[in-house]
Amino acid sequence: MPPKSLPADASAQPARPPCVLSGIQPTGRFHWGNYFGAIRQYIELQTAGDAFYFIADLHALTTVRDPERLRGLVHAAAVDLVALGLDPDRATLFVQSDVPEVAELMWLLMSVAPMGLLERCHAYKDKKLRGLPADAGLFTYPVLMSADILAYDATIVPVGEDQVQHIEVCRDLAGTFNHLYGEVFTLPQARLVESGARVPGIDGQKMSKSYENTLDVFEDLPSQKKKIMRITTDSRPMEEPKDPADDHLFALHALVASAPDRQEMAELYRRGGFGYGHVKKALVESAAHFFAEARNRRAALEADPGCIEAILANGAVRARKQAAAVLARARQACGLARGTAAGRRS
Ligand code: ADP
Ligand code: TRP
Repeated sequence: MPPKSLPADASAQPARPPCVLSGIQPTGRFHWGNYFGAIRQYIELQTAGDAFYFIADLHALTTVRDPERLRGLVHAAAVDLVALGLDPDRATLFVQSDVPEVAELMWLLMSVAPMGLLERCHAYKDKKLRGLPADAGLFTYPVLMSADILAYDATIVPVGEDQVQHIEVCRDLAGTFNHLYGEVFTLPQARLVESGARVPGIDGQKMSKSYENTLDVFEDLPSQKKKIMRITTDSRPMEEPKDPADDHLFALHALVASAPDRQEMAELYRRGGFGYGHVKKALVESAAHFFAEARNRRAALEADPGCIEAILANGAVRARKQAAAVLARARQACGLARGTAAGRRS
C-alpha cells in the first residue's frame, strides 16, 4: 500500500516563484537512460524559477563504500552535469554533504516519522523481501530525501517514477510537522518526468547499469561505435517493411537524430529494403553529433579541475544560506532555539 499523503493545498501557501530541486546519486557514469529519462528534463527546468540541483553523496554512502571512488564519482557527476547544460549561473549546483544543515533537519523530521510509513517504502521493503541485510541509512533514506527537499522550500521536484513514493513521504512528514508546530515547511509537488521516455538498452531491455546494456553519454567514440554495431536486431529479411514503433534500434536513433533524419528513417523502415547495418551507422553518426558540444565542454572542464570545485563551493554557499534559514525556522518552531538570537544561526 502506498504511503498516505496529505491533500495538496496550494491555496494555503503564499504565491512565490517555483523552486525546482532534484538530487542525483553519483553511483556511476551517466547512460542514455539517465540523460533522456531524467537529467535532460531536470536541466530544462532550470529556467522555470529558482533551481537547486545536488549530487546526493550522503545517499550514495549506503552503496559506495570506497572513499576514493566516492570522491571521484562526485566530481565526475558535477563535470558531466555542467557539460550536459546545467548552468551554474542560473541554477545552484552543490554537493549534498556540503550542507550540514540538512542532516540536522533530518533529525527533526525523524522525530515525526512513523516507523510504519518508512517500512512501506520500496527501497527498504524490496531489500528486506529479498532477504538482504539493510542498514538504518537505507531505512531512513526517505527522511533524508525529505530534508533535502524541505531545506530549500522546493515546490517542484522532478523525479523518475521510482522516487514518487519518497515525495509523498516528504509531504506527509512536512504536513505532520506543520500540524504540530505551525507553517514551517513548504509542501512540494513531484513532477514525474515523461514516462514515454523509457530508453531501451543495446539488448532491447530497459537500459540499466544492472543489465550491462548501456550506452554511456561520455563513452569514448570508438568503444561506443563497437557497442552500437553489436546492438541486437531481429532476423527479418532486408526487403520486408518494418514497424519503427517496435524496434529498439530505431528508438535509440530517434533520441539523437534531427527531426528530418528521424522522419526519413521511419519512412525507410516502413518501406523496407534496408539492412540494420545502415541504421547502426546512422546511429553512430547522430550520437557523435548530438553529444559533440557536451563532449567539448566536458573536455574543457576536465582540463581545469579547479573550475568545477569553484562552482560547487559557490553552490554550497548559496545552498547553505537557504537551508540555514529554513532550519532556523524549524528549530524555533519546535522549541530547540531559546530566544530569537539562538534560533538565528549562520
Ligand atoms: P540504473 O537502472 O542504471 O541503475 P538509475 O536507477 O541510477 O539507473 O537511474 C536514475 C534515474 O534515471 C531514474 O530515476 C530514471 O528516472 C532514469 N532512468 C534510468 N534508466 C532509464 C531508462 N532506461 N529509461 C528512462 N529513464 C531512465
Ligand atoms: N533518491 C534520489 C535517487 O536515487 C536522489 C535524491 C536524493 C533526490 N535526495 C533527493 C531526488 C531529493 C529528489 C529530491 O534518484
